Amino acid sequence: MKLWHKLTFAIAVAALIGGGVPAEAKRRAKEVPYSWDLPAGITSADLKIPAANPMSYAKVELGRLLYFDKRLSADDTVACATCHAPEHGFTDNAPVSTGIKGQKGGRSAPTVINRALSDAQFWDGRAISLEEQAKGPLINSIEMGMPDHDAVVAKLKNIKGYHRLFARAFGKPGIINIDKVAQAIAAFERTVLSGNSKYDRYQAGDKKAMTDAEVRGMALFNDKARCATCHNGVNFTDELYHNIGVGMDAKEPDGGRQNATKDAADRGAFKTPTVRDITATGPYMHNGQDKTLEEVVAFYNKGGFPNPNLDPLIEPLNLTDAEQQDVVAFLKALDGQGGWKNIKAPSRFPK
Ligand code: HEC
Ligand code: HEC
Repeated sequence: MKLWHKLTFAIAVAALIGGGVPAEAKRRAKEVPYSWDLPAGITSADLKIPAANPMSYAKVELGRLLYFDKRLSADDTVACATCHAPEHGFTDNAPVSTGIKGQKGGRSAPTVINRALSDAQFWDGRAISLEEQAKGPLINSIEMGMPDHDAVVAKLKNIKGYHRLFARAFGKPGIINIDKVAQAIAAFERTVLSGNSKYDRYQAGDKKAMTDAEVRGMALFNDKARCATCHNGVNFTDELYHNIGVGMDAKEPDGGRQNATKDAADRGAFKTPTVRDITATGPYMHNGQDKTLEEVVAFYNKGGFPNPNLDPLIEPLNLTDAEQQDVVAFLKALDGQGGWKNIKAPSRFPK
């Protein structure tokens, strides 16, 4: 009997590693302690995991199903993955997103990649965690359009298969509530990671990992072009809000961080986004104004868009054309291998 238990445990582990999921392994998955498969450059110390929402395989798998399940929207047409799709770098590659009934929102969908490395979420940081963030789109009338969270829970309760999955993820009897929905989705999102880029391999000591142009671009990024004053640390962000002038020429500019803090000094300031895997997530900026990285660098080179709240760090940079190309080359060297690229939509959903 003991041996049999050891055997089933080994099968469960092997199945999780191998990606196959025999029924027995599935049943026991929640009992295998979660172990991170982190891409080079990211360490477990970088990850923000709330004590109240520890990781588990069962929770991540439930979260993955919920994240891709269009039945979480009012008319079964929109899932989280509609606007944050793996094949589009976990965004939608559109200047603004389209939710239920073809309605368009006001901001560009940021990527879900490496959100585990931040506490604050949204362009203006108004959600303090991924758990809090995940509750928003479900009841946003433009996005997923559910009337309220009770309606989301009621809909899930009508899908028999979810009861079993909630029980596995959160313990019996498998009570479904909105906090658990958000926790499972957040746990899944935390597995969407980017690292193991040319830059990470270069930093780890492989000096051949980056080309001369990429190395020159890195030096410019850190020094003359000033990028690293805001795009710094493991995830290339200071986790702060800056007005760099994006959209300030619009008739009614987006208040950005000001909407969250009600402080006039924050007008037009937005969260510094990661630039990891940036080639996958265009168009760029909160309003999708730039289609290419060349356009982004040119925007900074001319000093952003001057306005009364412009961050003092944003000034004309006097980069030559060749220097601008090198900065772009460096940004491209931040494209990772593995990590989020291995994550796929589920092939079947609970019935
Ligand atoms: C209709 C498109 C759409 C849908 C559906 C949608 N999102 Fe988003 N998402 C956006 C947009 C647009 C933003 C930026 C909004 C803002 O900052 O005000 C965003 C922001 C986010 C962020 C913050 C990222 C960051 O860098 O701060 C996360 C995380 C996220 N969404 C996850 C989800 C999850 C989970 C779901 C499903 C429950 C979901 N989204 C559904 C469009 C969408
Ligand atoms: C003062 C802080 C600051 C500096 C300096 C800075 N950035 Fe940014 N960066 C931001 C903020 C804030 C945003 C988002 C702005 C918005 O959408 O309104 C951003 C957006 C971006 C984006 C778009 C990301 C996306 O997902 O849409 C890229 C690419 C980028 N910056 C690269 C650079 C480069 C290259 C440099 C140096 C030439 C640089 N940044 C300098 C703060 C800064």
